[in-house]
Amino acid sequence: MAAQPQKFSPPGGRARVVGKSNPTVNNREMTVVEPRPARSPGVTYQELLDADTHPVPEVLRRESPKFLGSTDIPIDRYTSREWHELEKSRLWKRVWQFACREEHIPNPGDYTIYEIANMSFIITRTPDGTIKAYPNACLHRGRQLKDFDGNCSELRCPFHGFAWTLDGELKDVPAQWDFPHVTERKDDDFHLPECAVGTWAGFVFINPDANAAPFGDFIKGLAEHFEVWQMENRYVEAHVTKIIHANWKVAQEAFCEAYHVNATHPQILPYLGDTNSQIDVWDNFSRVITAGLTPSPLLWYDVSEDDMLRSMLDVRVDQDNPISVPAGMTARAVGAASGRERWRPIVGDHVDQMSDAEMMDSIDYTLFPNFHPWGAFNRIVYRFRPNGDDHRSAIMEVLFMSPFKGDKPAPAKITALSATQSWTDAPELGMLAKVFDQDVFNMSKVQLGLETTFKPGITLANYQESKVRWLHQMLGEYIGNDNLGGL
Ligand code: FES
Ligand SMILES: [Fe+2]
Repeated sequence: MAAQPQKFSPPGGRARVVGKSNPTVNNREMTVVEPRPARSPGVTYQELLDADTHPVPEVLRRESPKFLGSTDIPIDRYTSREWHELEKSRLWKRVWQFACREEHIPNPGDYTIYEIANMSFIITRTPDGTIKAYPNACLHRGRQLKDFDGNCSELRCPFHGFAWTLDGELKDVPAQWDFPHVTERKDDDFHLPECAVGTWAGFVFINPDANAAPFGDFIKGLAEHFEVWQMENRYVEAHVTKIIHANWKVAQEAFCEAYHVNATHPQILPYLGDTNSQIDVWDNFSRVITAGLTPSPLLWYDVSEDDMLRSMLDVRVDQDNPISVPAGMTARAVGAASGRERWRPIVGDHVDQMSDAEMMDSIDYTLFPNFHPWGAFNRIVYRFRPNGDDHRSAIMEVLFMSPFKGDKPAPAKITALSATQSWTDAPELGMLAKVFDQDVFNMSKVQLGLETTFKPGITLANYQESKVRWLHQMLGEYIGNDNLGGL
């Protein structure tokens, strides 16, 4: 069943038309294509759902393929300083963005620093429990008010000692006799400016534009999809960041399609339906669903059900497969059953309501611009940001949001990896670390290639890479002028 299109207008833009229309060069209008623009040979994702051993949630039955045009994406968007400056002023200063988790600031006075490009914000919990976000800048001569996360009873600047309450009221001016011009107007100009704040499922979002469109409108579509998975009942089991030598979009887009799997992660082809992924685009969010324990259509040989499991479990040729597939069953059903038993001690018999798809598949959502929560029990949440003010460097971030039993565990401390460290230096990521290393190995080479090429744009697949195109379409709407960046 097709979902109703969401109405969401970026600042300065207009609600995009979702319906029958001609694709345009600048992708101002999206064309719905039924049932999909193109498809790989082999089983479709919906056909796999038909064979599920358990009822499949309705949200996985939705399909929203979009043909967004075939125009090349200008390379300037990844390489030029001008584009980076536009992203700072027209995107990051105006968009709702994931800043922290509520459990990072559980008590009044707790604060954490959220940085995006060259900007820094203080996210704090006030005495009455509400969450506020302020630009991390003193109103005297501008010093950052806080350098590290912590707990405080007031926001006091380390330079000359101006102080504000957690609610942002000017509280103290040392040698106040010298600042009659400040104390006379303390209720307006000297209240800390505030960002808009919104929360969803424990994720704290901020928008530096205090006049931003309501967060409820922004999150509505994604939140409705995630109702079935109750992300609010999760804790941060792992939290790892890594510096990447590439533009943040190069890093992010490597996780927005499964087309790269055949060349970048060939070892997982026997059990991953890479090019049979289902890609759905709604308004300000999209998803790629890639099925597990079904073979890649790109393989030139048949894979037995046993060998699918053997590959997934990384069992070597001289070892016995610890899980065999009974006659008449599929590896997908056996793998899902095993997954249910893994989670049963934590979430109880609720696992019996979970479909094979929810146990096995990569259900990779993206909320524009850079928030990537995965559905069901694949616990990944990604975030990608510019690394400070460097447009050729990014911070990639991985959180595992896991179910728990009993009291909610404290969030994991951040493991911060440098550009030269391997993801395997974060053992909390388990098997995924090696896969991430394969992904990251490409990224700096992509950036260098983009700096070198004589070709003015990158070329995208119409369907498999439509989530990448959607990201650029949204980005173009925020930047506000499709002719910037070479289009
Ligand atoms: S810059 Fe903050 S008190 Fe002077
Ligand atoms: Fe990958």
